[in-house]
Amino acid sequence: MATMVSPSLLAADFLHLEEEMDMINHSEADWLHLDVMDGVFVPNISFGFPVLEAVAKKCKKPLDVHYMIVQPEKFIQRTAKLGAMMMNVHYEACTHLHRIIQEIHLAGMKAGVTLNPATPVNVLEDIICDVDMVLLMSVNPGFGGQTFIENTIKKVRQLRQLISERGSKALIEIDGGVNHETAPRLVEAGADVLVAGSYVFHSTNPEQVIHDLHSL
Ligand code: DX5
Ligand code: ZN
Repeated sequence: MATMVSPSLLAADFLHLEEEMDMINHSEADWLHLDVMDGVFVPNISFGFPVLEAVAKKCKKPLDVHYMIVQPEKFIQRTAKLGAMMMNVHYEACTHLHRIIQEIHLAGMKAGVTLNPATPVNVLEDIICDVDMVLLMSVNPGFGGQTFIENTIKKVRQLRQLISERGSKALIEIDGGVNHETAPRLVEAGADVLVAGSYVFHSTNPEQVIHDLHSL
């Protein structure tokens, strides 16, 4: 099975979003990854609904929305209205994670749970059969272009094992520092979906980079 690729719009040229969307639509990208930050859960602010709505109108790929915000449950209905395919919320931001996953499903979306680098995968034991995806952060969330945290490879293997032990159908997505060196090792460890921001958008040939990741 080919590796799925979810390019992160955070690294795109915001003065030329329409051209960037044309590139994504024309590429072999499976999804488009959208990073929403609130300056509270993470020390940065990215973009919100006005940008998401504009992108949703133009994008032909399923939207993979990654909320790095406190109280993401406030935005389930608006995210569904955008037509998002996947809503990812942080384990560290959700006191009542099970309820939030249920609400995301009731709103008609797939539900992803995201783990920060310092959060072990075993905290997912009792939710792994209820989620459609686990998004493992391989950098501390908040910024693009950071260095890959090596411990992520071990976490992918542990998560792959937990998923198979419990008979879960959850996909494993990795976010942060994905490039030609880290991507093959992540796929070998068991990753299904790779998010890539700067590696795709800062390249001279983004479509080729997406193709190369997809072929892993
Ligand atoms: C970081 C975001 C990532 C970011 C990845 O907080 O969640 O999606 O765009 O950027 P790169 O691929 O450049 O590490
Ligand atoms: Zn992300």
